[in-house]
Amino acid sequence: METILTGIRVNGELTLGNLLGALLPMVRLAEKYKSTHRVNVFVPDLHTIIADVDGDLQANTLKSLRYYAAAGLDLAHENIHIYRQSYVPAHSELCWILDTVATMGEMGRMTQFKEKSEGRDSANVGIFNYPVLMAADILLYSAKYVPVGEDQFQHIELARNLAERFNHKYGPTFELPATTAEQAAFMQGLAVEGKKAAGIRIRDLQNPEKKMSKSSQAENSKIMLSDTPASAAAKIMGATTDSVGKVQFDMFNQPGISNLLSILALTTGDTLESVSARYAGETNYGDFKRKVAEAVELFLADFQVKVAQTPDQEILAAFTRGESYANEIAKTKLLDAQRAVGLR
Ligand code: TYM
Repeated sequence: METILTGIRVNGELTLGNLLGALLPMVRLAEKYKSTHRVNVFVPDLHTIIADVDGDLQANTLKSLRYYAAAGLDLAHENIHIYRQSYVPAHSELCWILDTVATMGEMGRMTQFKEKSEGRDSANVGIFNYPVLMAADILLYSAKYVPVGEDQFQHIELARNLAERFNHKYGPTFELPATTAEQAAFMQGLAVEGKKAAGIRIRDLQNPEKKMSKSSQAENSKIMLSDTPASAAAKIMGATTDSVGKVQFDMFNQPGISNLLSILALTTGDTLESVSARYAGETNYGDFKRKVAEAVELFLADFQVKVAQTPDQEILAAFTRGESYANEIAKTKLLDAQRAVGLR
């Protein structure tokens, strides 16, 4: 059985963009493949602490699982393994071993590192090193598919390079994850922006050139999963559009309207093609926005009810089961690596 593996950091409250762009596609993927693949969904809590944490880390971890469950992830399925990274010590241990095959040069070229550190001397070393930890996350489970957004593709390439270099130096130990082109092809079924296979990028409601981001100062630019459904609807009504006067999917010339079409498709479970066809010829942006606002209001109300419904015991039981599984697999692979290096 091949393994699909992924994780989302939870540094605080998530946006509708995180949900529709990453979490929901991931859950759909898990549901599609759970009978034929191992699906590892983990909480990268060690990654989380490279940045400030809003609120309580434990509470955020539980909440993230509640979000997965509300989005439809089957926490009790035998092929779905849910675990917290820090509860599987092999991740940190393999990270150290891989650190000794990674080079300063390649790590310094990581775009995420450059963006997050902004050249500051005061940036923490975790920001520099976390792609190596991510490689350990992947290689410990011989994961083939790692569904992530495009911003993380460089880290998958790094995991492949480190595995290859390690195998070359110490003998065959790690299986390489699929190339980014293969990853993209695997995720293709989930893409709504045509060729951009790495999923959906939900845009900022006030400035649709940018992605919807939690860190945006303007409250109206983002919908938080904790917003009341009515205020979320009001934010949709206030979203920036354009002066073209036609409802059509054209990310380049009409990013605002295209974003609303994506949101409508994802919140109603429809395809982008079908919602685009339904509104083809619509010239009244107010009427169109009202439909999107209604869909978001219904979706969020339903989602929030489901979030409240998942009991903590169910989540904790999933963690306990998943962590016992993950420790078994990870320990064995770590031992292979330790033996190869000569530590055991
Ligand atoms: P993180 O937590 O920053 O992001 C989680 C996932 O969300 C994707 N993403 C988006 N996708 C679409 N539209 C957006 N606006 C958007 N913003 C973020 C990211 O690409 C990512 O897939 N290092 C990882 C977490 C991680 C991981 C792993 C993932 C740690 N170890 C091993 C996979 C496998 C991270 O910080 O993602």
